[in-house]
Amino acid sequence: MKEIKKICCVGAGYVGGPTMAVIAQKNPHIQITVVDLNKERIKAWNDEDLSKLPIYEPGLDKVVLEARGRNLFFDTDVDKAIDQADMIFISVNTPTKTYGKGKGMAADLKYIELCARQIARVAKTDKIVVEKSTLPVRTAQAIKRILDQTGNGVEFQILSNPEFLAEGTAVTDLLNPDRVLIGGSQSEKGKEAIEALASIYGSWVPQERILRTNLWSSELSKLTANAFLAQRVSSINAISELCEVSGADVNEVARAIGTDSRIGNKFLKASVGFGGSCFQKDILNLVYIAKSYGLNEVADYWEQVIIMNDHQKRRFAENIVTTLFNTVNGKKIAFLGWAFKKDTNDTRESAAIYVANDLIEEEALIHVYDPKVTELQMLSDLDYLATREEEANKKHLTVHTDAYKALEEAHGIAVLTEWDEFKSYDWKRIYDNMQKPAFVFDGRNVLDHKVLESIGFEVYTIGKGK
Ligand code: NAI
Repeated sequence: MKEIKKICCVGAGYVGGPTMAVIAQKNPHIQITVVDLNKERIKAWNDEDLSKLPIYEPGLDKVVLEARGRNLFFDTDVDKAIDQADMIFISVNTPTKTYGKGKGMAADLKYIELCARQIARVAKTDKIVVEKSTLPVRTAQAIKRILDQTGNGVEFQILSNPEFLAEGTAVTDLLNPDRVLIGGSQSEKGKEAIEALASIYGSWVPQERILRTNLWSSELSKLTANAFLAQRVSSINAISELCEVSGADVNEVARAIGTDSRIGNKFLKASVGFGGSCFQKDILNLVYIAKSYGLNEVADYWEQVIIMNDHQKRRFAENIVTTLFNTVNGKKIAFLGWAFKKDTNDTRESAAIYVANDLIEEEALIHVYDPKVTELQMLSDLDYLATREEEANKKHLTVHTDAYKALEEAHGIAVLTEWDEFKSYDWKRIYDNMQKPAFVFDGRNVLDHKVLESIGFEVYTIGKGK
């Protein structure tokens, strides 16, 4: 088996950055270069001040500090890193297509294809190419065809090694994964390539947690895992609405069903809806793949997970309007949180964006506090929806760096992210400085509602019937 001495990772994002940092930390004998076209991002990865890393993840700064400059490097010279590497990870973004055939559903593979063409152009020695990005099933075939066009005798082995880390817990997930999945060709050379990658993970992951499969099972497993996880959220959210009208309490229902070992207790938290860059795009991609094989019932089944999620976000916003006496025009609504979940600065597909957008349509004035998200990011999230002029978004959205200032004089507070710090606020002080009646809409069910009610708040909780 060929020993891997140099690795290149194309894409220094939420996956490429943390994944390579942990692989480098655990394999000091391998030199790893993470490259990206985005100069600003690479500059931030190289910043002396670790609080300026482009991605916020608990514990990531320590790992980077240990490996950076030793055997972990961040660079913009993509060609050079490809040329020198024995193994190349492709970790570029694969967003939903926004144009042409499959618009709004299929994965946009233009970044993957560009990457494959660049590898084909530059490579002079044999390489193992690892799909780290989440890809439609059978993409490896397309990558192989592009790579094999080089005609200069270079041999490529393609592996699929999807990433299962969750943002907010990326470092602990990488250090202690439930499993690592490696798919590859079942030929002798393919199996050798699988083992080369398995030995890198083997530096810290027990062998029995390293699963080897064929390429297509591996590619499809990543889409399937995300579809199953998102389906659990939509399932409990569907039940939450039923709880509200029937007098049941979704937390009690979740506990009751979660103690059944066949169901399990994880991912059963009702909320304003799931966000993040992956769930929606990966399910839409699965739906598109099913449709393209003519499997309409399969496609409809999974699409319902997205329909339910959109409904949950919309009804949360509608409930705010109804509760505030059917109008939020000119009223200050304070948001606690904008990130799609706690412990990350990622806002892609965050429920907060959609709730804010719906409330701004009703002429509300949104004031936001989030411990990790910048004003620039929030405005660009709203502008991306293209619902109104950028100036109008600026007029309706005010961003605060002090939570208490964001909440002052508000008619209602909406909790959109489950940041721990929200629980320890001085809620009596907040109540005293708010408009009355003082409403709290807890979209993440994280606050102590009994305490809030005893202070005088009127609390709306997802999934709790009266
Ligand atoms: P990201 O958008 O944070 O990072 C991708 C990076 O690739 C960007 O910085 C971009 O500039 C760079 N890039 C694109 N084309 C390039 C090229 N030709 N050469 C050099 N750099 C290029 O995306 P993220 O979140 O890291 O996701 C990457 C992949 O991993 C996606 O397929 C995603 O579905 C998958 N994934 C994401 C997870 C997450 O939690 N974010 C978890 C598991 C998988």
